[in-house]
Amino acid sequence: MAKHSFLRGRASPCFTEACLFFSGVFMALLLVWSFSCFPSSIPSNLEALVGVTRAAAGGLAEQEGHCGEAARLPDFMNDPPDETFYDDPELSYSMDKPVNGWDEKRKEWLRRHPSFAGGPERVVLVTGSQATPCQNKMGDHLLLRFFKNKVDYCRIHRCDVYYSNVLLQPKMKSFWAKYPAVRAAMLAHPEAEWIWWVDSDAIFTDMDFTLPLDRYRSHNLVVHGWAHLVHEKKSWTSINAGVFLIRNCQWSMDFIDKWASTGPQSPDYERWGEVYSSIFKDKLFPGSDDQSALIYLILKHRQLYEDKIYIEGEYYFQGYWLDIVPTLRNISRKYMEIEIEDETGILSRRHAEKVADFYSRQWEQHLREAGNGRGSWRRPFMTHFTGCQPCSGDHNQIYSGESCWTGMLRALNFADSQVLRNYGFIHRDLLDSEAVVGVPFGFPATQRVVESLMDSSLGTRQRGKRQACLNPLACTTEVLKKGRIQ
Ligand SMILES: *[C@@H]1O[C@H](CO)[C@@H](O)[C@H](O)[C@H]1NC(C)=O
Repeated sequence: MAKHSFLRGRASPCFTEACLFFSGVFMALLLVWSFSCFPSSIPSNLEALVGVTRAAAGGLAEQEGHCGEAARLPDFMNDPPDETFYDDPELSYSMDKPVNGWDEKRKEWLRRHPSFAGGPERVVLVTGSQATPCQNKMGDHLLLRFFKNKVDYCRIHRCDVYYSNVLLQPKMKSFWAKYPAVRAAMLAHPEAEWIWWVDSDAIFTDMDFTLPLDRYRSHNLVVHGWAHLVHEKKSWTSINAGVFLIRNCQWSMDFIDKWASTGPQSPDYERWGEVYSSIFKDKLFPGSDDQSALIYLILKHRQLYEDKIYIEGEYYFQGYWLDIVPTLRNISRKYMEIEIEDETGILSRRHAEKVADFYSRQWEQHLREAGNGRGSWRRPFMTHFTGCQPCSGDHNQIYSGESCWTGMLRALNFADSQVLRNYGFIHRDLLDSEAVVGVPFGFPATQRVVESLMDSSLGTRQRGKRQACLNPLACTTEVLKKGRIQ
């Protein structure tokens, strides 16, 4: 497949007046900002940080590149009359009819809409659930929270979200329903380089982590799993098809057609069920399913697909909830210890949600030793409640309903606390979805100071964290006990 060099093409030229205007406004804002916005009591380490940021911002405004940035804002109000694939009556959104020449069609659309080309690769997250109410009485509530989690993540990381709750191909039910939705999303979003399917029962448990898209530069499909288990063990759990990234290109159009071709819409559906059961001895249920179909294709057509399918096992691109949930408590503790020990105070500095990425990057140097995936104390990127069936309540009998239920609550509140923090609150207790506590200024290191102030046992107001927490570990334990953060 051709490299998407067109995506990196330069955007339309900058309008000089607009640029001058924006630079002027920007400089004016900087002046106002430097005179009025920061109280004189700002700690010196933060002062240094702000100084650096201001200098960088000032420098940026002087560079011509800044105008280029402004011109690259997406133009939502303009669809030129020139014909694109949308005007072709032969093009179909349905699974029944293949799409051809998609790379060229997409490229042409981008040429006509240059404001959507260039810049970071765009990602559309696609997820969904059934069209009718859930059988489980908590099911719809859980789906709402699972969805909220994805919306939160994508608001912070600038992905778009599409929720599909209809069957675009009536015969393709349950796990097969994602293929028509993903395919339609590819056509609806020619501006997106990637479509990211995420099952309704998978959630983000690290709101900071960003997809290492660079790593997938020469691949078209990314799934979580272990290549050696695919080839040596022929295991049904060697790969998980509940979360995947697929590049918006012709290869993917063809691959989806192939992948979904053993689904319930196929006359050979029954036969494929038998084939898959005979190959994958650890498969839990009979019938043809999409996970089997994917592993089968990778096994049988290795030369054809190996180069283009990235089997990600290095971090929790998706992870099994039973492995992850018991580790969340220690992970919270570790993160809090790091915040308390952080000399610069940057990690616990309050900030706008829009600049969360900047703080995520500050965290990276502290997480280097954490490792990734199993046994790591880094927050797991994504936790998948495989087998819990929140909507039907018909969970796998190997788990008790309680462990699925409490596992989901813990993970949801663990993730939600990360989001809430930028809104000034956190969950008190991961099993209590309702109760939140306000985050005191300078949290977590100043927690004890604030508590002391509240019971007036401390005469003078203390500033800075060092005095507040001479022994970080003792302090953390104190915070964990009092705040009941698990
Ligand atoms: C959490 O940390 C404690 C203390 O370091 C350790 O004993 C325990 O095994 C850890 N729990 C998990 C699930 O890793």
